[in-house]
Amino acid sequence: MSSERTPLITRLPIAQPRPRYPHAVLRRFCTVALASMLIWFFIAVAVSLTFFPDGHSHHDPGDRWTWPGCGRRKIDHDQLQRILLDTPSSKHAEEWSRYYTAGPHLAGKNYSQALWTKNKWEDFGIKSDIVSYDVYINYPVDHRLALLEKKKENHDGNDATSAWKVSYEASLTEDIIEEDPTSGLPGRIPTFHGYSASGNVTGPVVYVNYGSYQDFEDLVRANITLKDNIAIARYGGIFRGLKVKRAQELGMLGVILYSDPGDDGDNTEEKGLKPYPDGPARQPSSVQRGSTQFLSFAPGDPTTPGYPSKPDAPRQPVHTAIPSIPSIPISYKDALPILKALNGHGPKAEDFNKWWTRNMGLQYKGVHYNVGPTPDHVVVNLNNQQEYVTTPLWNVIGVINGTIPDEVIIVGNHRDAWVAGGAGDPNSGSAVMNEAIRSFGEALRQGWKPLRTIVFASWDGEEYGLIGSTEWVEEYLPWLNDANVAYINTDVSVRGTFLRTASAPLLDNIIHSATAAVLSPNQTVPGQTVHDVWDKKIKTMGSGSDFTAFQDFAGIPSLDIGFDSAPGQPVYHYHSNYDSFHWMEKFGDPGFVYHRTMAQVLGLITAQLADLPIISFRAADYAYALDRYVEKVEDKLDDALSPATEIEASSLTDDDMYFDLRSSTRKQFSPWTGVSSSSSSSAKSFKTSLKRLHKALEKLTSRATALDKHADDLDRELKQHIPWWKWPAKLRLGFEIRKVNTKYKYFERSFLFDQGLDGRPWFKHVVFAPGLWTGYAGAVFPGLMESIDNEDWVNAERWVDIIESRMRNAAHRL
Ligand SMILES: *[C@@H]1O[C@H](CO)[C@@H](O)[C@H](O)[C@H]1NC(C)=O
Ligand SMILES: *[C@@H]1O[C@H](CO)[C@@H](O)[C@H](O)[C@H]1NC(C)=O
Ligand SMILES: *[C@@H]1O[C@H](CO)[C@@H](O)[C@H](O)[C@H]1NC(C)=O
Ligand SMILES: *[C@@H]1O[C@H](CO)[C@@H](O)[C@H](O)[C@H]1NC(C)=O
Ligand SMILES: *[C@@H]1O[C@H](CO)[C@@H](O)[C@H](O)[C@H]1NC(C)=O
Ligand SMILES: [Zn+2]
Repeated sequence: MSSERTPLITRLPIAQPRPRYPHAVLRRFCTVALASMLIWFFIAVAVSLTFFPDGHSHHDPGDRWTWPGCGRRKIDHDQLQRILLDTPSSKHAEEWSRYYTAGPHLAGKNYSQALWTKNKWEDFGIKSDIVSYDVYINYPVDHRLALLEKKKENHDGNDATSAWKVSYEASLTEDIIEEDPTSGLPGRIPTFHGYSASGNVTGPVVYVNYGSYQDFEDLVRANITLKDNIAIARYGGIFRGLKVKRAQELGMLGVILYSDPGDDGDNTEEKGLKPYPDGPARQPSSVQRGSTQFLSFAPGDPTTPGYPSKPDAPRQPVHTAIPSIPSIPISYKDALPILKALNGHGPKAEDFNKWWTRNMGLQYKGVHYNVGPTPDHVVVNLNNQQEYVTTPLWNVIGVINGTIPDEVIIVGNHRDAWVAGGAGDPNSGSAVMNEAIRSFGEALRQGWKPLRTIVFASWDGEEYGLIGSTEWVEEYLPWLNDANVAYINTDVSVRGTFLRTASAPLLDNIIHSATAAVLSPNQTVPGQTVHDVWDKKIKTMGSGSDFTAFQDFAGIPSLDIGFDSAPGQPVYHYHSNYDSFHWMEKFGDPGFVYHRTMAQVLGLITAQLADLPIISFRAADYAYALDRYVEKVEDKLDDALSPATEIEASSLTDDDMYFDLRSSTRKQFSPWTGVSSSSSSSAKSFKTSLKRLHKALEKLTSRATALDKHADDLDRELKQHIPWWKWPAKLRLGFEIRKVNTKYKYFERSFLFDQGLDGRPWFKHVVFAPGLWTGYAGAVFPGLMESIDNEDWVNAERWVDIIESRMRNAAHRL
C-alpha cells in the first residue's frame, strides 16, 4: 500500500466565496449584476467575433488577428476533424495498452501510473495535474473456501467420533498460462471482492440462481431455508453487490459468486470450442473480481456520501453502503464440486420455475442445479479476510482552456483495474483517451484554439464504486453545475467490434453524427462507417461507470461509449487475469484497429461539443424520450393492473427484459396475480394522473422543438457572410447564440430533485437512475417505477407531482 501523497492539487476555476459587507447588500447586488452583465457582454462579443468566416480563405496565414479568441480561426472545424481523424494510430494505442497492463494498478496502489499519465499528457501539450482524495477501501489479506463433509462412522454405533473432512479445497487462484505473461506476474492481485466484509463462516449451501430480488423471493416462497446458510449465486445481469445485499437481508451467512459458462452463449467448451488461450471459450479457472458496494444506493467513498473525501472530511458509518457478510468470487472450476454437492438436495431448478433454467452451462459436467440446501453433514467454510484502510487515490486532470470560461466539456476514463492487466477494462479506454488527447495536442500545436474548455480525466478507484469521479464531482459541484455542458465517458473502449452506447437524449444526435464520420475497421462493405455497422441502439443512463455522478447526481448530460463483444465473439474475461494484453492482442483487437477507431470517435464527439459555436444538443429528442418513458410507466402499470398476466417467453431470452423483471420488488410476481382489488381504485387514479405528464410534455416538446429550430436558424445565419461594418448584427447574433447555449447547458439540470430518490437521497435525477435492484441497467422515472412495484399509489402520485413540476419548469426555462 502506498502512502505517498501528492502536493499537486489542481485548482479549477471555482467561484471563491466573496467577502461579506453586511451593510452594503444593495451595493453588492449592483456590483454583481454589473459585473455579470459585463462578463456576458464580453463573452458575446468574443463568440460573435470568433466564429465569423469573413469570406476570406482560411488558408490566408497573414490575415488574422492575434487577439486571443477574437481572430479568425487558424484551424477551423473541418481542419480540426481532419487532425482528429488522422492523428490516432494503432501503434501508439498498442504502446499505451502495453504500458498500462504491465503491472498491477489497483485503486490507490500505483502512483507511478498516475504520474506517467500526467507526464504523457503534458508531453502531448495538455496542462495536467494530479488530484487526490483520501478514501476508505479494502485490500485482500487472506481467503479460503472449502467443502466439508462429516462421514458417518457407524462401527461403534456412535457417530460423535465422526469428524469433518475436507472434501474439496478451492484453489481461489487463476491458472498461470505460459503464453500470457500477465497471468504469471509476481505482483498479480488475488481474487477478492471490493468492499467485502471480513468473516469466517460455515454452513450449508443454497443455490440462488442469479441472486436477483425475485430469485430470493422464489426461495422464500418455497420455504427453502436461507437463514444461517451460505448462498452460491451465478454472476450476471445485476450488480454483484446487490446479490450480497439481498442475501444479507435474508439472514444468510455469506455469498459465493461464480461465472457459469452457460452465460457465454455459444462460445463454450460444451459446444466444442477450446478455452483461452487456445480458443475463444472461457478459461475454466477465470474469476470475476469486483465490488460488492450497494451501488444503486450511493456510489463513491461510503464514508463521505455527498461530499469529497478530503483528508479532514468527517466520516460516516458504512453499514448501509457496503455488506456486513463475507463474499468471495470463484471460477466455475472451483464451483463444480460445490454445485455437485447440491445434487439431489432440495428442488431441481427445472422443477422450480421457468426463471431458473436459463443457461445451465454445467449440466454436461454433472451438475443438476438443485437448489438445496445441502444436508447438515455437507457444509462450506468461507473465510474472507480484508484489510480496511483510508488511503489516497489519484485522479489525473488535464485541461485545455477555451475562449468561453463557463462552458466546459469533460472526457473521462478510469485507470485503476482489478488485475495487473485490464487491457479491456479499463485500459482500452485509457489507450484510446491518450490517443484522443495526443490528437488534440497536435491540433493545439498547429494553432487550434477551442471555444469551450475541455477537461480530460483519468479516474482512480472506479472499480471499488466510481470513487475518483464521484469524489471529484462532489468537490467541484458548484463549478460543474455552473459550467459543465456534457460529460463523455469511455470505460471498456474495446472488447469486441460491436458498438455499444448509452446517453442522455440531448446527446443522441452527436453519437450519430460522430460515428458517421469515422470509417469502420470492418470494410466488408467498402467505405462503411462505424455508424453503418451500428445497431443504432442507445441505452438509457444507468450506472456501473464514472458517468454516474455527472448524470445522476449533478444533472449533467452524459454519454458512455465502447466496442462491446457480440454473441459469437471470443469470451471476454471480465475482471480476470485473462483480461490481459495477450488476450487483447490475440482475440480482442488484433492490430489495435478498434482502439484507433474509438480514439477517432471520441475525438470527434469531443470536438463537436467543444468547438462548434452552437452546442449541438437536441432538446426535442429529450422531450420525445420523456414521452416514451411515460409510456413505459403506463405499460408497467397496465401489467400490474391486469390479473395473472402470463410473462412472455421472449422475456426469458432478452437479457435486459429478463433482469428488469427479475429485479422488480413486486410481491406475488410469479405467477403475476395483479394488484389487490382494494388498491385498484387508487391505482386507477394514479393512472389518470399520468395523463398530466403527457400534457406537460406537449408544452415541453413544442418549446424544445422551437429552441432546436432557433438554433438551426442561428447556425445558418452564422454561415452567411456578414460584412464587418454590420457589427451590430454580429453582436446580436453573438448574444442570441449565447442565449441558446445557456438554455441547452442548463436543460438537464431541470430534472434534479434536491431531496433525491426514495431511500437513496444521493441520486437526484428524477428521470435516470440505476435500477434499485439491477444496479447497472438504467431505470427511467425510478420514483414512479418503484412505487408501482411497491403498490404505493400515494407515493406514485407524489412522484407525478414532482416530475410534472420539473417538466413545466424545464419548458419554462426554454
Ligand atoms: C505500476 O504500473 C506500472 C505500469 O503498468 C508497472 O510497471 C508497475 O509495476 C506498477 N507498480 C506497482 C507498484 O505495482
Ligand atoms: C475459520 O473457521 C473454520 C471453521 O470453523 C476454522 O476451522 C478455521 O480455523 C477458521 N479460520 C481462521 C483463519 O480463523
Ligand atoms: C411453506 O410453509 C408454509 C407454512 O409452514 C406452508 O403453509 C406452505 O404450504 C409451504 N409452502 C411450500 C411451497 O412448501
Ligand atoms: C486555464 O484557466 C485557468 C483559470 O483562468 C487558469 O488558472 C489556468 O492556469 C489556465 N490553464 C492553462 C493551461 O492555460
Ligand atoms: C462487418 O460488416 C458486415 C456488413 O455490414 C456485417 O454483416 C458484419 O456483421 C460485420 N462484422 C463484424 C465483425 O462487425
Ligand atoms: Zn471499468
